[in-house]
Amino acid sequence: MTLLPLPPQASSAAPRVDALLYTVTGVTCAVGVAICLTIVAFAIRYRAGSLGRRRSRRPSRQTPAQRRLELAWTLTPLLLFLGAFAWAANLYIERGSPPVSAPRVFIVAKQWMWKAQHAGGQREVGELHVPRGQPIVLVMTSQDVIHSFFVPAFRAKQDVLPGRYAELWFTPTEAGRFHLFCAEYCGTDHSRMRGDIVVLEPAEFQRWLAARPETADMAMRGKALFRDYGCSGCHDANATVRAPDLAGLYGRPVPLANGTVVAADDRYIRDSILLPAKEVVAGYEPIMPSYAGRIGDDEIFDLTAYIRSLGKSPEGRGEALR
Ligand code: CUA
Repeated sequence: MTLLPLPPQASSAAPRVDALLYTVTGVTCAVGVAICLTIVAFAIRYRAGSLGRRRSRRPSRQTPAQRRLELAWTLTPLLLFLGAFAWAANLYIERGSPPVSAPRVFIVAKQWMWKAQHAGGQREVGELHVPRGQPIVLVMTSQDVIHSFFVPAFRAKQDVLPGRYAELWFTPTEAGRFHLFCAEYCGTDHSRMRGDIVVLEPAEFQRWLAARPETADMAMRGKALFRDYGCSGCHDANATVRAPDLAGLYGRPVPLANGTVVAADDRYIRDSILLPAKEVVAGYEPIMPSYAGRIGDDEIFDLTAYIRSLGKSPEGRGEALR
C-alpha cells in the first residue's frame, strides 16, 4: 500500500516503516487541522465585543466537567504521541539487531564508489547482488570521509564512517534492481556515488555466485595476508615472540591489561591491528607495531575473516558470539 509517491516497498521493513510514516503524518495532520479550526472558531466566538455585557462575569473555579475536558485534551494527544514513539523505537531497535546467523557482506565506501565483498571472495563495485527472502547484514566502513548507504526501496539508510564499522541489515522481498545512493555530501562527485542493489531469486543468486569463481575466499586471502604482513611471525603457535594465540579468539571475551574485558569482535580485531596499544591483552607486553596506513580496509576484512575461521576448531571455540 503506497498512498504517497514513495519508492517501491522491496524489503520486509519497508511496509512497516511506511505504516508508521502514514500514521504519524495522519495523526499530526488531524491534530494540526483540529487546532487550526478551534483557533478560528474561538477567534470568532470570543472576539472583542461579541459577548457583550451579558457575560462579563467569569467563573472563578473550574467545574468538574471542565476539569475532565481539560484532562481529556491533554492526555489523549500525549498517549497518541507516546504510542508513536514506542512504535518508532521498536522499529529502530529491530533495525539495530541483525539476525545472528545472517550472511554478511563487507562494504568499503570511498570517494566515490561502493565496494562490496562476499564471504566467498566475490567482489563487486557499484553493484551488490543479494538473494531474495533472506536477511543480509552489511558490515561497512569508509576509506576516507563520511558516506551514507541509502536504499530507498528498502527504507534502509546508514552512515558509513572512517575508522569504525557500521552495520545495516535488511531482508529483500522483491526481486529486481533498486537504487543505492550516497546520502551524505562527501565531495565533488557525491551525486554520482550511486549503485544498484540487484535482488535475485535464491537459486539464481547461487548461480551468480558460482559464475564468479574466485581463486580464494576471504578467509584464504586473509591467511595469505597474515603471512605477508608478518603476523604469523609472532602469532603462530611456534613463534619465538610471545603474542596472543589467535585460534578460537573470535567472539571470545578477552581480558585486558587494564582490568577490563572486551569481546573479540570485528571492531576489536580492527583496532588491534591499527591501534595495538589501545587494548593490550592481559599478560602480554605492548610490543605489537601499528599497521595504520599500511593496510587497507579490504585487507582488514580478509584478516578478520581468517581469524574468524580459526575459531572453527574441533572444540568449536569462538562460535558462541558472532
Ligand atoms: Cu559518498 Cu556522498
